[in-house]
Amino acid sequence: MKVSFATPALPPSGALVLTVVKGGALEGLAAEADAAASGALSRAMAASRFHGEAKATLEVMVPFGLDAERVLLVGVGDELDGRLAEDLGGTIYSVLARSGSESATLVWPQAGSADVVGLGAALAAYRFDKYRTQLKDKDKPVLAELVIATPDADAARRSYEEDGAKIVEAVKFARDFVSEPGNVLYPETYAEGLRELEAVGVSVEVFDRAALEELKMATLLGVAQGSAREARVVVMRWQGAEGPPIALVGKGVTFDTGGISIKPSGGMEEMKWDMGGSAAVVGAMKAIAGRKAAANVVGIVGLVENMPSSTAQRPGDVVASYSGQTVEVINTDAEGRLVLADLLAYVIEVYKPRAVVDLATLTGAIVMALAHEYAGIFSNDEALAQSLLAAGDAVDEKLWRFPLHDAYDKMLESPIADMRNIGSSREAGAITAAQFLKRFVGETPWAHLDIAGTAWTDKARPTVPKGATGYGVRLLDRLVRDVCES
Ligand code: BES
Ligand code: MN
Ligand code: ZN
Repeated sequence: MKVSFATPALPPSGALVLTVVKGGALEGLAAEADAAASGALSRAMAASRFHGEAKATLEVMVPFGLDAERVLLVGVGDELDGRLAEDLGGTIYSVLARSGSESATLVWPQAGSADVVGLGAALAAYRFDKYRTQLKDKDKPVLAELVIATPDADAARRSYEEDGAKIVEAVKFARDFVSEPGNVLYPETYAEGLRELEAVGVSVEVFDRAALEELKMATLLGVAQGSAREARVVVMRWQGAEGPPIALVGKGVTFDTGGISIKPSGGMEEMKWDMGGSAAVVGAMKAIAGRKAAANVVGIVGLVENMPSSTAQRPGDVVASYSGQTVEVINTDAEGRLVLADLLAYVIEVYKPRAVVDLATLTGAIVMALAHEYAGIFSNDEALAQSLLAAGDAVDEKLWRFPLHDAYDKMLESPIADMRNIGSSREAGAITAAQFLKRFVGETPWAHLDIAGTAWTDKARPTVPKGATGYGVRLLDRLVRDVCES
């Protein structure tokens, strides 16, 4: 769907969308439209339970006297902020997508937030239909254009094109990777797909298995060794400013069977999205480069498939990480941390970043704690944690902070190696996972986001359709704006 901006006027065709404040009447162009329709809109409001409540809608078909084929009244509540403007865009899209109208014109009298409405609508318009060959016409969205008629159309258009549209592309980039099944998306094809970032000026460096062996990324390679698909590590750089970079690190397990510590078969198909952390990182790189951000950012993703086979890693195996520390692999299903350990140590040693943020669908335990509303954040640095919490609030990718403590770290002691890869009990599983990662970051300001509950959704929200959410793209983009660009 295309989003465009125009000066306020009633449209000659298509759908007309008008806003109504809570308990209020139709005003301005909306009042003009109502008059042209001999009061049909205000009578429809009076005859319904629609009173302008935020995100409530009322559809009036072919009102006599208006050129529009339908009028959609949308409630803006009593306090309009950016968050609501975005959700309204998403709501308008969802109501009209399959209505039959091919174009819609939204009359948006408020100055300043028209671009945000467009962003919300475009985010809601995401679909992943490439494998559907028998989709019925009536199930296909036909809404092709949303025109936002607003006082400062030029400023809104500029802001949308330079910023909002870049965010939409980046979120789509991430959602597409997360949506792909494991037979199509595996380390090699994923790494190949990331070459697309070169078109926006990101430098992309791919390490194949030989290169990773040379680098001694043995905890990462240990996860991949049971799969016919070779591991890849991809480093992405955007240098829009001088000084030390901020590093973004992502878990990219393209399919997680659990390995020899195999998962139960029920629901295992969900483990195609065990690369959601990496998708957040690559999406953020696309957004940052797309906006030509004045920031120095390095992204690194570890791409592996976790399979059981005769070459797979065994429970009890001891592997040496890139950092030199050794790990006793008690459970091969705790593989994400093994991938991240090498990435964290490597990116810190080579790039000496001012801060590191890793994202991973790391534990089922975080889903038990937070369900699908918040992702968990763990950090050794107050300022970084606060910046991330604020960024999460700003873009509605919410975070809830968990503690780190030596007592949890003790649960990682091993009789044979420097540490084991799971806690000594099942308790505090998300925290012991974070404590494991902490052993690979030294003194560098670091935050770990456990996004196991938020990378995928079975419930649509106004700007997030069912399926791959792209969680983390906007959060990281916002973090970079706040800590690097301001
Ligand atoms: N990818 C899973 C975590 C996960 C679980 C993500 C559910 C999304 C939904 C991860 O690799 C894993 O298997 N973690 C184990 C760790 C355990 C063996 C200590 C878990 O959480 O069960
Ligand atoms: Mn696992
Ligand atoms: Zn996993």
